Amino acid sequence: MYTHASFLRRNEADQGLTIISAPKTSASFVMINVTLWFIMLLLCPGQLKAQFGTTPNIKHIVVGRCYNYITLVNPSLRYDCEDIWRQFEEAVARQSSCNVTVEDYRQMFYAMPQTWPCDRFLFWSKTRTLMHSYAAVVRHFWTLEDTLVGYMFNDLIWCGQEEDSGFDFSSCPEWSACRNHPVYSLWRQASQNFAEMACGNITVLLNGSIVNAFSRKSMFGSVELDGLNPRRVDYVNIKVVTNLEGPFIESCSEGSIVDLLQILQSRGFRWTCTDNDQTLMILQCIQNPKQSSCQTCANSLLHRRSLVFN
Ligand SMILES: *[C@@H]1O[C@H](CO)[C@@H](O)[C@H](O)[C@H]1NC(C)=O
Ligand SMILES: *[C@@H]1O[C@H](CO)[C@@H](O)[C@H](O)[C@H]1NC(C)=O
Ligand SMILES: *[C@@H]1O[C@H](CO)[C@@H](O)[C@H](O)[C@H]1NC(C)=O
Repeated sequence: MYTHASFLRRNEADQGLTIISAPKTSASFVMINVTLWFIMLLLCPGQLKAQFGTTPNIKHIVVGRCYNYITLVNPSLRYDCEDIWRQFEEAVARQSSCNVTVEDYRQMFYAMPQTWPCDRFLFWSKTRTLMHSYAAVVRHFWTLEDTLVGYMFNDLIWCGQEEDSGFDFSSCPEWSACRNHPVYSLWRQASQNFAEMACGNITVLLNGSIVNAFSRKSMFGSVELDGLNPRRVDYVNIKVVTNLEGPFIESCSEGSIVDLLQILQSRGFRWTCTDNDQTLMILQCIQNPKQSSCQTCANSLLHRRSLVFN
């Protein structure tokens, strides 16, 4: 779950590269210049940082999302959104941008305790897009982004600055640049709380198209897995999903997922592991119906329907 802030960065970088491969017409000459300039921005760390300061209007976004959550998403909850913001500001603002620990967020998390129903917890790593469609279709799933803290801070970037009182809107460090990155520390604590609460059957969505589908460096492998409690969790149901067009690198019996199963086993968890879950394949086919693997899927569905109608 190393996404959030870094996810935005990856998108930006991808866009830069796509523009280069545009056909060289005379009109695109200017564009190439712009692109070169953009690439230099990407390559030059000082300038790159400048692109990603604290998200503008962060206070309005965070407080607004909080009110949205307690008013429309989950009206039974009682939280003091202004107080949560104050605790957040207290933790981050006026700190040096690399010096916010999970402990600094303690008061904020106290202000937003939340419990979740069992059998609904969905964990994921490197499957963010698919996870969103999956959670939207199988409505009963709960991800970190459905919790109040996840909902409020999703996709935002923030860091403080010592000199002026407040947030640094012009630049924030990369996650990798510091041990106590304010964004990372918040997600780390939120992920840990989420995992510690998990109960009943839980589902884990992993990406079989990459090496190290299970990585000890991911949020799932470094924080959530250790937070899971075998006495609260009945089954860890793992689903390994590959891109329809491959590559087919890892599965329940190959690669790092075997290590994960061993860890679960040794900690006393019961688990299942599924390759090629049908719902997940159908979801991918909806986005990419022309894939050859989807043709057979569509045919078998049609076949099944004709059986019903006969
Ligand atoms: C980091 O924060 C701690 C306490 O919050 C403070 O004592 C320390 O001086 C800070 N370090 C830097 C480099 O800002
Ligand atoms: C697996 O990871 C790759 C690389 O990050 C990504 O492009 C792809 O969409 C992921 N596949 C799934 C099924 O999430
Ligand atoms: C939990 O998972 C196990 C194994 O997949 C399954 O047999 C059981 O029915 C599940 N229980 C619930 C409540 O979903």
